[in-house]
Amino acid sequence: MIKVAPSILSADFGNLQRDVEEICNAGCDFVHVDVMDGHFVPNLTIGPVVVSAVASCATKPLDIHLMVENNTFFVDLFAPLKPEYISFHIEEEKHPHRLIQKIRSLGIKPAIVLNPHTAPESIEYLLKDLDMILLMSVNPGFGGQSFIDSVIEKASRLNKMRNSLNPNCLIEIDGGVSDKNIEQLKEVGVDVVVAGSYVFKHKNRQRAIESLQI
Ligand code: DX5
Ligand code: ZN
Repeated sequence: MIKVAPSILSADFGNLQRDVEEICNAGCDFVHVDVMDGHFVPNLTIGPVVVSAVASCATKPLDIHLMVENNTFFVDLFAPLKPEYISFHIEEEKHPHRLIQKIRSLGIKPAIVLNPHTAPESIEYLLKDLDMILLMSVNPGFGGQSFIDSVIEKASRLNKMRNSLNPNCLIEIDGGVSDKNIEQLKEVGVDVVVAGSYVFKHKNRQRAIESLQI
């Protein structure tokens, strides 16, 4: 079954505890946290003070997605919150293998994120060391954008690579996910979907989450 990680970027930040508790009680699998630094992406979100408040009311593991320039600094900042995953963008890391080792040494599962233009082959020699690969299906920085269709073919290619090199590594998709494209994503081997606006704008968030757990 596909696992669902609602992105709290689309939550009501004035009622963050209420919204985090609601999605956890509604049966989500992870809580997806988008960390943006205003440099790697043209938007700025939350730091460890707010994420620590999220961690203390979440009953599901955190999936932290870094969209930042200085990955190592941010890994050190968020590691004490004991997330399940920390993912970083391959486009922004000179020493990805070293950073993967560092994340794992902190007891956290390492994941790499690929922007829409980045080829899956760029991480061929890292795949064996990863627990998850996150494919962006929108340009990172904002919630509520439209799904980029070419990511379906890319996910299918990545699925073949993953099955031969590291079958335990999960494939996650982030951006524009809804009940409209979930079946296609399932067909090409996607294991985890991030969904922000689809879940948080739905009048029944539990039903929205369940509609993706196919
Ligand atoms: C975009 C973020 C996403 C975003 C997804 O940079 O990484 O997690 O919140 O939002 P939706 O599901 O609305 O496209
Ligand atoms: Zn994200």
